[in-house]
Amino acid sequence: MKTIKFNDLQLSPVCLGAMNFGTTTSEADAFNVLDAFIDAGGNFIDTSNNYAHWAGTGDESETCLGKWLASRKIRDKVVIATKVGFDRHGEGAGLKAAQIEYWCNESLRKLGIDTIDLYYAHTDDADTPQEETMAAFDKLVKAGKVRYLGASNYDTWRIADANALAKEQHLTPFTINQQRFTFLAERTEKPPKYIFNEYTSRERLRFLKNRNMPLVAYSSLAKGGYSDPNRLPSSYLFDDRWHVLQEMAKAKGVDPSALVVAWMTNLHRLPAFPQVIPLFASSSVEHFLSNLHGVDIPLSDEEMQTLTQA
Ligand SMILES: NC(=O)c1ccc[n+]([C@@H]2O[C@H](COP(=O)([O-])OP(=O)(O)OC[C@H]3O[C@@H](n4cnc5c(N)ncnc54)[C@H](OP(=O)(O)O)[C@@H]3O)[C@@H](O)[C@H]2O)c1
Repeated sequence: MKTIKFNDLQLSPVCLGAMNFGTTTSEADAFNVLDAFIDAGGNFIDTSNNYAHWAGTGDESETCLGKWLASRKIRDKVVIATKVGFDRHGEGAGLKAAQIEYWCNESLRKLGIDTIDLYYAHTDDADTPQEETMAAFDKLVKAGKVRYLGASNYDTWRIADANALAKEQHLTPFTINQQRFTFLAERTEKPPKYIFNEYTSRERLRFLKNRNMPLVAYSSLAKGGYSDPNRLPSSYLFDDRWHVLQEMAKAKGVDPSALVVAWMTNLHRLPAFPQVIPLFASSSVEHFLSNLHGVDIPLSDEEMQTLTQA
């Protein structure tokens, strides 16, 4: 699998989401998916300090990953991304210095590692001065507990502000953004269910391209809805784009979800698109490998245009 250079790391072109590992995805199933990802040449894995608190305590995903890392002894072969800032049963919400320090130590402990490769602010905290947040993150980088910083569910102007401040004060900037993005457009007649859960706009894509920041696209397979329409969330527009995708998938003899992965991993070839890294999850090795196959599907310039302009 070809890799993407991110600072001094080499990332697989897709990221495996571990959100449900240890809760709705059993530990055994999680280990199978993780092993299959590594065997296929993947290395980039996404978790958070609060996954999946709505189905458990919020410790399960990192704990499950920690057990897997310990049993496989492949710490140096994987890139671990985790996050801080969201609520978990009434604790943890916010990006104050003490919270960042506490939850980072907790993540390191649960994952059983010395350094987090990529640490995200999971959501913005408008009540804490950015000076405090960025200085706290920087302290972790200088202490060797974190390599790189990312922002998730941040408005673009807040990323720009944070990075301007980091530049001025010689602090570590955000160098990657994680946001919801997929092939289908979103219905715009009503706001998203959760305010943080903003869909990636064209403006965000241009911003990231301009700042040379990759977009890690979460919920990139629309919950499996491209392969099984019954799973498609009602928030997406079921329009021409859907039919163009299905027809091309049929003509090429590939699964529609895999075709979405192919489209996303090739978007950087087009003007006005940054590097996009689809982040997707599965409890099933079969589904996961079928989706991962997307990185090997060649797409001509014409096919990229057909999908993008649909
Ligand atoms: N930063 C944030 O705020 C944020 C928010 C949400 C998620 N995330 C991250 O993004 C990751 C992925 O998010 P997500 O779970 O929302 O999105 P997703 O990857 O788009 O959807 C996952 C769902 O797709 C189903 N699926 C996959 N392939 C399928 C196929 N071929 N046929 C039928 N169903 C299929 C899976 O079911 P099966 O298990 O049956 O395969 C699973 O239920 C998470 O694990 C997490 O790491 C981040």
